[in-house]
Amino acid sequence: MLQYRAVKGTKDIFPDEISSWKHVEGVIHRVAGLYGFQEIRTPVFEYTELFQRSIGTTTDIVGKEMFTFKPEPDGRSVTLRPEMTAGVMRACLQGNLLALSPIHKLYYIAELFRKERPQAGRQRQFSQFGAEMLGASSPEAVAETIGMMMHVFTALGVTGLRLRINTLGDFEDRARYKKTLREYLEPYASLFDEQLRERMDKNPLRILDSKSPDIQAVIADAPKLRDFLSPPTLGEFDQVLLYLDQKAITYTIDPLLVRGLDYYCHTAFEVVSPELGAQDAIGGGGRYDGLARQLGSKSDVPAVGFAVGMERLLITMEKQGLLEHIEPEGPQVYVVLQDRELKSYAVDVCDSLRRSGIRSEMDLGGRSIKAQMREANKVGAAYALFVGRNEVESRTYGLKDLKTAEQECFSLQEIVSRIGKDVVTRSARE
Ligand code: HAM
Repeated sequence: MLQYRAVKGTKDIFPDEISSWKHVEGVIHRVAGLYGFQEIRTPVFEYTELFQRSIGTTTDIVGKEMFTFKPEPDGRSVTLRPEMTAGVMRACLQGNLLALSPIHKLYYIAELFRKERPQAGRQRQFSQFGAEMLGASSPEAVAETIGMMMHVFTALGVTGLRLRINTLGDFEDRARYKKTLREYLEPYASLFDEQLRERMDKNPLRILDSKSPDIQAVIADAPKLRDFLSPPTLGEFDQVLLYLDQKAITYTIDPLLVRGLDYYCHTAFEVVSPELGAQDAIGGGGRYDGLARQLGSKSDVPAVGFAVGMERLLITMEKQGLLEHIEPEGPQVYVVLQDRELKSYAVDVCDSLRRSGIRSEMDLGGRSIKAQMREANKVGAAYALFVGRNEVESRTYGLKDLKTAEQECFSLQEIVSRIGKDVVTRSARE
């Protein structure tokens, strides 16, 4: 038994999985570019108050899931980021980005940390790709943000996802609703376990999220948030839905969707995947117009964003057979040494191929020719290039296409232009 193992709830990603990750990341970068989102990277830890202030002290994340360290010498404690929205907003306010341009569209692929009970699709270190549109949260902005997220799913070939959407109104609407909901729930408190009772006191909206059938029966007759919302709020929400229709994005309006972070207002949404079991939320987001002011901004910054769990996305893709065709990128050329005395010559051949932009490898373990050929096939090389006495004398090399087994002799220059062309034609075909 190994003495040192990865921390519970963390995972290693080995080279055979990296090609799937790179494929997904490549699509995210490409689609984000199509919509004009620019990448942002923020620190992995922030002062704890940032998360308390933004995500909310009564939420599960802040209440029990943060990895928080002992205070710094200045007395302020720091926390590994459990999500990106707060950090991105903090960075933009601090960097005064909105003074340069009133609308900033940003996206990220980032590692996050939550002290949750690990299970399938739930880790303590996980990654998200997400986007934050700062400076706009009009119905077009909301629809464009959701559209970008759905475009990534479509571009990856993922099917069967369900988008649930709701409007939460503004903070005053919700405060009035919370009071009424708490009054309605009070007589049923004996049905609630400790966690639900705590939620009822601190954030009764989260009870609407409960999956327990008993509680759902209670909620069925509860007052509805919609009845507390103003006509402009409802009108704006309808506009969002019309834009989604226009983009041919299907959705279900779910009046019980509330989301687990406090900064949301108006439109909120979640995407669930049929492949995920208990942890079925693959992504979620919404508007957070009040966050900038909460973090000390003197002016309002309307905003909308989302985040998608990368691990859950990859699990979904795997179950849908979308990762099978993705193969690691092997070398284009495997240099096969036929005579040990020519080792340093082969090193030169390999290096000059690399300098010409051809991915090349050679045997580093003194193996037989047969074993080198086996290795060339194993690492997925397109060609084997032979280095022997004749080759060195004639300065032409046997080049074997490992798919067709055809073999011909060429100079190094011819090989470079041949394989270079090959690459161009292959990528044009893809
Ligand atoms: P969230 O709903 O907390 O939202 O997380 C978004 C997604 O991250 C989830 O739907 C899930 O796929 C993934 N996720 C969350 N926790 C874990 C975990 N422990 N293990 C694996 N995956 C997980 C947010 O984080 C908001 N910041 C989204 C947002 C951006 N809202 C506006 N802008």
